[in-house]
Amino acid sequence: MIPGTLIDTLRTSAHAVILTGSGTSAESGVPTFRDAQTGLWSQYRPEELATPEAFESDPGLVWDWYQSRRKVIAAAEPNAGHYAIAALEQLFPKLTLITQNVDGLHQRAGSRNVIEFHGNINRSRCTVERVIVEPRPEDDGSPPACPNCGAPLRPDVVWFGEDIPHEALSAANSAVNHCDAIFVIGTSALVQPAADLPFKACARGAKVIEINTDATPLSASAHFVLQGTSGRILPALLEAFSQPAQTPGDS
Ligand code: OAD
Repeated sequence: MIPGTLIDTLRTSAHAVILTGSGTSAESGVPTFRDAQTGLWSQYRPEELATPEAFESDPGLVWDWYQSRRKVIAAAEPNAGHYAIAALEQLFPKLTLITQNVDGLHQRAGSRNVIEFHGNINRSRCTVERVIVEPRPEDDGSPPACPNCGAPLRPDVVWFGEDIPHEALSAANSAVNHCDAIFVIGTSALVQPAADLPFKACARGAKVIEINTDATPLSASAHFVLQGTSGRILPALLEAFSQPAQTPGDS
């Protein structure tokens, strides 16, 4: 299932980047971004709720949607793919993990130094002071009020039309400008600027490895396409990569 040529490529990679999307958390029971709307929320498209305009016109609706997603995430556990990604950190001289996921499951699986490209749903931020704060436990407002200034809180995530946090964008660009290989896992590769990162790395000569259940706009440019679920492919890749390298004299 894992091509030997891929393992050879990885062995010569000093700096690898892993870019993940919501497919990476699908096997944890967290629906992918575009499949997320069920039950009460099926009448809305995520693109309609995850915007500053939606929050301005109906903050309660948007806050309640995020609360429902927070509940799903709190009940979820990292899957075998998350754990394999955390273990890969030990096998490259340098590994940079960039995630579009807001669920915090990579950190819970043991990944360190995660670049959260789209923020983290478990944090809240004051809409006026822009600082990260937690609502008072007794505040069940929708949205709750900032404990410092009383302004409404919002989830600390990036909405459509908003900028990527400066530090995350610059760290991700720097990694993409220096890596030898980039894994692109469980993302539809549609949402900018994240979607451009593998193309930038590829243009510099980095090897692109895509892991996805389906073809994406990146597939035709990828050097290796591993089709299937990340929870199945990543442990197999970790296992193959962990084996000692064969030397020509070995039989
Ligand atoms: P999408 O829902 O667009 O894409 C999920 C991808 O995961 C698809 O390409 C699926 O084929 C693939 N997939 C599903 N299950 C999988 C599995 N078990 N293993 C491997 N692949 C699987 O989600 P994202 O690409 O993450 O941004 O979406 C990117 C961004 O779009 C999100 O972060 C969100 C949204 O706009 C913001 O909220 C700003």
